[in-house]
Amino acid sequence: MKSSNARSLRNASLMLCAAVMSVDALAAKPVDVRVTVTADTAGPRIEPAVYGQFVEQLGTGVYGGLWVGPESTIPNTRGWRNDVVEALRRVGVPVMRWPGGCFADDYDWRDGIGDPAKRPARTNKWWGGLESNRVGTHEFMDLAEMLGSEVYLAGNMGSMPPRAMAEWLEYMTADGKSALAEERRRNGRDRPWAVKYMGIGNESWGCGGNMRPEYQSDLHNQYATFLRGSALRVASGEGETNDHLVEVLMERSGPHMDAFTLHYYTLPGDWKNKGEALGFDAHAWAKTLKTAMGIEPRIAAVSRIMDKYDKDKRIALYVDEWGTWYDTPAGASALWQQNSLRDAIVAALSFNVFHRHTERVKMTNIAQMVNVLQAMVLTDGTRMLLTPTYHVFDLYKPFRGATPLEATVEGPHWQQDDIVLPAVDVSAARAADGSILLALVNLDPERPARVATNLKVKAPVRGRILTAAAMDAHNTFAATGTLVPAPYFAKPAKAALTLELPPKSIVVVEIPAAR
Ligand code: AHR
Repeated sequence: MKSSNARSLRNASLMLCAAVMSVDALAAKPVDVRVTVTADTAGPRIEPAVYGQFVEQLGTGVYGGLWVGPESTIPNTRGWRNDVVEALRRVGVPVMRWPGGCFADDYDWRDGIGDPAKRPARTNKWWGGLESNRVGTHEFMDLAEMLGSEVYLAGNMGSMPPRAMAEWLEYMTADGKSALAEERRRNGRDRPWAVKYMGIGNESWGCGGNMRPEYQSDLHNQYATFLRGSALRVASGEGETNDHLVEVLMERSGPHMDAFTLHYYTLPGDWKNKGEALGFDAHAWAKTLKTAMGIEPRIAAVSRIMDKYDKDKRIALYVDEWGTWYDTPAGASALWQQNSLRDAIVAALSFNVFHRHTERVKMTNIAQMVNVLQAMVLTDGTRMLLTPTYHVFDLYKPFRGATPLEATVEGPHWQQDDIVLPAVDVSAARAADGSILLALVNLDPERPARVATNLKVKAPVRGRILTAAAMDAHNTFAATGTLVPAPYFAKPAKAALTLELPPKSIVVVEIPAAR
């Protein structure tokens, strides 16, 4: 009874939202866009790990957001809150990066094992407050097992010796009778865990030690040498502009790495005044989307340098921190921010870019999972909400493991002040069952788009849409269903798929394979 009431309320609010949208859409004439998908030009597949996430021990990202402790009245499984774990399970978390971020280079893994009552509390140097170490290796791996996620550890190269990193990995992955494997058993875990990825430092040019690339490269080689086992070795990479770092690491450390990383944050302002998460104007909307799209030339530039040293593309590029970063509201926990339709558009544009660069981009990790930066989930005590970004991950789920197809877009640009952007951005891919997936983003906050494609269809095509009347539409704890995906249908016109996109919308459709 309760849930059907909730459903009808939600449907009513969707109808209201659609009505408001159609008034808007009527106000502006649609722009005409042509999308041509080349169905026989498949690139390397979209690795599921491209939909990875990042969890750092900071603010309420772990404590409160994910972990409440076994003694909490909030329903939990061995300390991990059931509502959040269930939501993450539904969307699927192929890989999780932990424990930092900057935190990683100040973290001693030994603080987080053994009797929880005896673990030391340490100052969280980068993000403030005390780190209780209540969540350590065993707890994190329990979460990873509950979510079915691969694990990407960020090892400390900035302030601990190579032996510490090597021992952490051995503690987790060794079988047999080594002293570290026995210690793990004494701490309650018999079987070794699988650690697929081992990060060697984080932002070594900054919070990871303020190193010169040449020095970092020597250290990377040293630390990588002592890691045992099969974990992929990930070199800490660059933060948006430093080509020299890419050159040095690729030239001197290429043989000692399996992947290299890129961090790319989207700020409407600058690092001093980053901008507001809500209540922004059309200029901030356009500036944010332009900055988000800047990830594409950056990936292309880094890939070009990587190509010089790694012609066979053995070394992957992991964008292991990306997302929006706004000013933290007064009184909020560290790096907390709301998440609106604008963030959803940023996520969708970013995925479209990652799909276009699958020859190098094999993993990405949104920053971050819960209550930090462009979060998937926000919590407030017992309450929880799914953000618009969560819904984009959900909409794009069929793309995991699919093969990207070339898609060209011909259409107008739109302008806001001095910022010029394409009206529509598109990603196409072929799923394992042969169906064609199409994701379309209308970046224009005012005008709808009519997209004519070359894809032959006989019947209407189904999909889902995420859109709203306001640029900063978002979910709140009191109204968690304000911005959720709605069903979408596209009709054929002259036997080809044609899609009507409302302003500021994301649409994902699936065109079944012809039988
Ligand atoms: O995600 C927040 C911080 O951003 C990370 O700790 C750091 O790596 C980056 O600068």
